[in-house]
Amino acid sequence: MTDDRAPSAPAADGFPPTPGSLDPEALRRRALDALLTARARTATLTDSVEDGELTAQHSPLMSPLVWDLAHIGNQEEQWLLRAVGGRQALRPEIDGLYDAFEHPRSARPSLPLLAPAEARTYASDVRGRALDILEAAPLHEGGRPLERAGFAFGMIAQHEQQHDETMLITHQLRSGPAALTAPGPPDPTDAGSLPGEVLVPAGPFTMGTSAEPWALDNERPAHRREVAAFHLDTSPVTCGAYQRFMADGGYTDPRWWAPEGWDMVREHGLTAPLFWHRDAGQWLRRRFGVTEPVPDDEPVLHVSWYEADAYARWAGRRLPTESEWEKAARHDPATGRSLRYPWGDTDPTPEHANLGQRHLRPARAGAYPAGRAPSGAGQLIGDVWEWTSSDFLPYPGFVAFPYREYSDVFFGPGHKVLRGGSFAVDQVACRGTFRNWDLPVRRQIFSGFRTARDA
Ligand code: AVJ
Ligand code: FE
Repeated sequence: MTDDRAPSAPAADGFPPTPGSLDPEALRRRALDALLTARARTATLTDSVEDGELTAQHSPLMSPLVWDLAHIGNQEEQWLLRAVGGRQALRPEIDGLYDAFEHPRSARPSLPLLAPAEARTYASDVRGRALDILEAAPLHEGGRPLERAGFAFGMIAQHEQQHDETMLITHQLRSGPAALTAPGPPDPTDAGSLPGEVLVPAGPFTMGTSAEPWALDNERPAHRREVAAFHLDTSPVTCGAYQRFMADGGYTDPRWWAPEGWDMVREHGLTAPLFWHRDAGQWLRRRFGVTEPVPDDEPVLHVSWYEADAYARWAGRRLPTESEWEKAARHDPATGRSLRYPWGDTDPTPEHANLGQRHLRPARAGAYPAGRAPSGAGQLIGDVWEWTSSDFLPYPGFVAFPYREYSDVFFGPGHKVLRGGSFAVDQVACRGTFRNWDLPVRRQIFSGFRTARDA
């Protein structure tokens, strides 16, 4: 890790660094806080069930929770202890077990994994050493790429939070009574007066970033994109709107579906989003161990890209492209700049967005007025990941950093991009430029969507 590839060029995309964001001591405090926040979340997710549930496989789509726990520690060991700190491996023999590319999720329960107590001890031993290394690391401009602006520490906090979202998906898939609870998100204040869609006028904007210190490789570099005028839904599509598609025969009419989507509907007999079932003429859903009526005005959750695409076609609309989504979320026509977040350059607060597993559901459409973008669109950050029509592809000038297996090996037509984060994402792993991706058949993720049309 000696070549100079770390992205921390001056603000080519125009946004000024957050106050103090490039000051090494402010970055050190930020990194410490992000690592501690992630570990507290990991503890909640892994201490809330019996040890037997940590080693069980709740779904072939997911790892046992105890695998995520030790994998979190192992990635931290590889990047913070070995790559940054120059330390020897603590337990070199376990690297292979926790390499996501060596063992598919369905095979992980039969591996000789660390038992829950061992996995906890390992992750906490690694963490103790990582904090020592953070305390002494030179985080200044011009230092080694991994350390500059605290990048590796930010990357590892994001990695842990990404697995915390994965573990929350496992919680959603497990059967039995609720293990986690949380208060509800805020209600909308003026939902009735919101227009259904906003107009984003034609013109170029700056996509991606070269200035955000902890942006991951696939968000870089900042570059200009031309975008034609389009209309975008003000809020994500709600369960109520989605039920009109269902009631209108959405799942029985091949006209609305991409061919592979129609194959999926027939093969699995799909009739509704994942976790929904019909009882006495009413749609119910199971959410973290509780069965409840489907709420009409909450964004629809647990739909595949194919379902989102079919709904949009039924509605006479389409999914937004990834560039359209980002322009609606970040472009400020008053200055011509792209913002870090829809509301500006300041970090999220609980008034801006539903993030961080504070609430275990999306907020109703129209909530978070303080989080709206200059375009007028709301709830772009948090609540539900939003499917876009775009394949996951590198930006012009992309350089894999610090490892190809984060993004590079996933680029191509097989994966669709999701934007904006969900209620399950922490703010360290969510911003206007953040890119997520998944297979178009996936529904266990916290995915929803909004629709667009040409202007
Ligand atoms: C960016 C969410 C697709 O979970 O597969 C975690 C994040 N990469 N460990 C995933 C990730 C390596 C990744 N996603
Ligand atoms: Fe990982």
